[in-house]
Amino acid sequence: MTSVIDTGTATTRTSNSRRSFMKQAIAAGAVGVGYSLFADATSVLAQGQTPSTLSAGDAALLRFAAAAEILETDFWLQYNELGGIQDSEVPGGTGNPTYTAKLQVLDSDFSQYIHDNTDDEISHFTFLNAYLESKGATPVNLDQFRTLPGSKATGSSGQPRLTNLMQLTVDTSWWTRYRSSDNNPDLDPNFNFPQAIPDLSKGQFTAIPRTDADLTPDAHIQAIANTAGFHMPTIEQGGTSLYPALAQRASSVEVLRILISIGPTETMHFQTWQDKAGNAPPVTDPTNGLTFPDLNSPPFGGEMFQTNLIMPEPCPFLSRSLPKCSIIRPTQTTGIAMNVVNFLTAMGLFMGQSPQFFAMLKSLAADADAATRQCTS
Ligand SMILES: [Fe+2]
Ligand SMILES: [Fe+2]
Repeated sequence: MTSVIDTGTATTRTSNSRRSFMKQAIAAGAVGVGYSLFADATSVLAQGQTPSTLSAGDAALLRFAAAAEILETDFWLQYNELGGIQDSEVPGGTGNPTYTAKLQVLDSDFSQYIHDNTDDEISHFTFLNAYLESKGATPVNLDQFRTLPGSKATGSSGQPRLTNLMQLTVDTSWWTRYRSSDNNPDLDPNFNFPQAIPDLSKGQFTAIPRTDADLTPDAHIQAIANTAGFHMPTIEQGGTSLYPALAQRASSVEVLRILISIGPTETMHFQTWQDKAGNAPPVTDPTNGLTFPDLNSPPFGGEMFQTNLIMPEPCPFLSRSLPKCSIIRPTQTTGIAMNVVNFLTAMGLFMGQSPQFFAMLKSLAADADAATRQCTS
């Protein structure tokens, strides 16, 4: 129990000290006041449960997750204000009928899904912060960075934002990554998975109407809705990988449980949105040339692009000497938090944010990436 602590934590040191105290107490035959302490501690350790406080590593993992969830919540609220169901469960905004109608071309339930995804993200960060506080750890608060102007279109609340949905560069290579049976980014880090929507990976595009001027012409607002349709699964596939990657370095069983219980809900989001993205109608935006091709026709189509192939294809996992397996990919844990920060930054999601914002996010990521798994039983 001595060598693995490079994130060195007050809690861990306390816990180690307590254990060495207990050993000394037992050696000295002290069974009075020490007995209840020992019995209490051993039952916790024997059952692999969480001590009453978190190790610094576990706290850092949860703090990064909380930050990611706050950021997710911020942009999902923007989507909900303009294209979601308007109710008191997810307040803010009044809806934009034209944008909503174009989203519903992808699925008549689109507004409901936006609403429910937003509700989930609110619950994720709220729970993570409350759990941190319940263990005496510091929660995450990014309120000081809510400075970006949001949409001025009908339906937007006009609140200042943490994230920017109006200058996105969307990497849609997850589309083919999950359809590839030969390549896994964990085994082939330099493999270039083709983009589903090549144009989205090159320029900067808005996923929401910026003003009411974006509501016409028809092909323009449909392309904006399509951009949202591909941005949503792009984000959620990131969460799908983030949680299992973080979980591999959790120390307490309870923190592990939190990470492996939230993570699959991100996967439920991803899978839903992936299915909807496949319904995005082929269109070219006359204002900027952004083209959504027909993914079911040449030069697209086939195993790599066909829109109903939404189940993950089995692929190499851990070693090519093992049978292929249908899995989440990537799940490589080293540096995952900073990779996520870089992924979201490259997406343009933080366009306009302050240097202080990036410094804080990178600091949270660095702490999470420094966490190491410490066996507690
Ligand atoms: Fe989430
Ligand atoms: Fe999510």
